[in-house]
Amino acid sequence: MTYETPKTYETIEVTPLTPLLGGEISGIDLTKPLSNRQVDDLHRAFADRSVIFFRDQHLDFEHHKTLARYFGGIHIAPSTAPWQAPGHPEITIIHADKDSKYVAGEDWHSDMSCDPEPPLGSILYLHTVPEPGGDTVFSSMYAAYDALSERMKAHLEGLTAVHDAVVGFGGITPEGMKLPRSSHPVIRTHPVTGKKAIYVNRGFTTHIEGIPRAESNALLSYLYDHVQRPEFQCRFHWRPHSIAFWDNRSLQHSAIWDYFPETRSGYRVQISGDRPF
Ligand SMILES: [Fe+2]
Repeated sequence: MTYETPKTYETIEVTPLTPLLGGEISGIDLTKPLSNRQVDDLHRAFADRSVIFFRDQHLDFEHHKTLARYFGGIHIAPSTAPWQAPGHPEITIIHADKDSKYVAGEDWHSDMSCDPEPPLGSILYLHTVPEPGGDTVFSSMYAAYDALSERMKAHLEGLTAVHDAVVGFGGITPEGMKLPRSSHPVIRTHPVTGKKAIYVNRGFTTHIEGIPRAESNALLSYLYDHVQRPEFQCRFHWRPHSIAFWDNRSLQHSAIWDYFPETRSGYRVQISGDRPF
């Protein structure tokens, strides 16, 4: 597969956050229906930057779902989840304030990698944000993979790892809720760009299969440190009515909770994905 970085966009402007990842999109109103050319440009920017950002977009639930549907079906969380928006099972409420005992996503992770078919992307819209604080940090798993030695790449090729929701959500889910557990390649290939990316994360991965547990622990610990190197990262500073739309296949992210007791609040939609390969 050949993938080329887009040189220009017809309908939008894309301002890169770093040379490797992140792009702030301007020149588009996501509350209006989008043309095919606009959708095509967004697809190309998303593939190229792995995470795209929008400012000053006052989304309601329908706008939010419509944006997701330009990229695929909507991934719906189990119906017992207490954080669904009432009457809108596609919408997850993301909220932290003075009463919060934890926030979702503080550890580096790829969303729901414990699912057999994890969501390909997540669209987070925040209407209320602390100032300052509450940034989200993203790390490129393409860059992390590319920086490995050829020997390490060869060693990891073909290995699989178990991802278990108990690691991420074990303490916070309602009693009796079934928590998914899946096996995925340690190195996955992105279905759109054809690039390889590291696909183990501290938030969900328990162990690499088929090797002694001590060896798995040592390898994972090395990889978890490696994927956090600052040169692989970009950091997004939220303002009210901003959107971050990230690719779970090529990124990990971490939500920084440095703003207690302030409020950070909004909604998230996830887009269905395929089985990693
Ligand atoms: Fe997340």
